[in-house]
Amino acid sequence: MAKTVLITGANRGIGQQVARVLATQGWDVLVGARDRKKGAAAAKRLREDTGGRLRAVELDVTRDGSVMAAARALRDGAIKLAALVNNAGIYGSAGPAQTLETNFFGALRTTEAMLPLLVDGGSITNVTSSLGAAGNLDAGPRAELLAIVERDALAEHVRALVRAQGRGWGTDAYGASKAALDQLTRILARELAPRAIRANATDPGWVRTDMGGRGAPRTIEQGGASVLFGVTTECTGGVWRDGERID
Ligand SMILES: NC(=O)c1ccc[n+]([C@@H]2O[C@H](COP(=O)([O-])OP(=O)(O)OC[C@H]3O[C@@H](n4cnc5c(N)ncnc54)[C@H](OP(=O)(O)O)[C@@H]3O)[C@@H](O)[C@H]2O)c1
Repeated sequence: MAKTVLITGANRGIGQQVARVLATQGWDVLVGARDRKKGAAAAKRLREDTGGRLRAVELDVTRDGSVMAAARALRDGAIKLAALVNNAGIYGSAGPAQTLETNFFGALRTTEAMLPLLVDGGSITNVTSSLGAAGNLDAGPRAELLAIVERDALAEHVRALVRAQGRGWGTDAYGASKAALDQLTRILARELAPRAIRANATDPGWVRTDMGGRGAPRTIEQGGASVLFGVTTECTGGVWRDGERID
């Protein structure tokens, strides 16, 4: 039977590329998109391009109601996920709180909602950035972050940073959001090991998308392949680029 993957923010960019490749490989692909029309258009486009099985799922990772509704719809459809790719992300103009909300809390919220639907032996891939490498943080924030071993404590830590308007981040909000996402990945890997669910963070590198801009050195195919490693690897708990462990 075909495996099912849910990819957030898959209506364009790297998420769409990951959807394209997995559809070509025979996966049933759920194209997560916060805008229903954009999601439907992307799923249609990819069905035409690949001949694969893709359908849109409306999912705004920053809204509890949206994420819960998506999880309910999948549950009611008796859909089980073999893979979840937390790809949705923002960079730049939206401001620190919204950046943390989307890039960190969005992945946490989606993961928690989808965990009951994830099969034992499945995978969670969090799309990160080298800007979030723990090595970029100042020593104090780095030690504090890496010492956190539970999801709730990590969420509280990030909420406190938002309340403090960034004092203590040790980097900008985007870097902080991805550093926290990497730590969430390590926590999930340990927590879900008894169910053989693998959790990895994968960095696409600097890629020519709307986010990366035209001057980025990497193609969308290269970025997508780097992310896809998280779906296929037997490893867990790592941060990877192009299949090489970077953190
Ligand atoms: N491009 C790079 O150089 C680069 C480098 C390192 C890491 N990354 C990471 O790779 C991931 C994908 O980036 P990209 O370059 O493909 O970016 P992109 O082209 O800007 O696409 C971002 C995607 O995320 C979606 N999104 C944003 N906020 C969302 C929300 N609240 N709920 C659901 N979806 C939401 C967007 O949906 P809309 O169309 O509705 O806006 C879009 O589909 C991100 O996590 C990013 O941080 C990118």
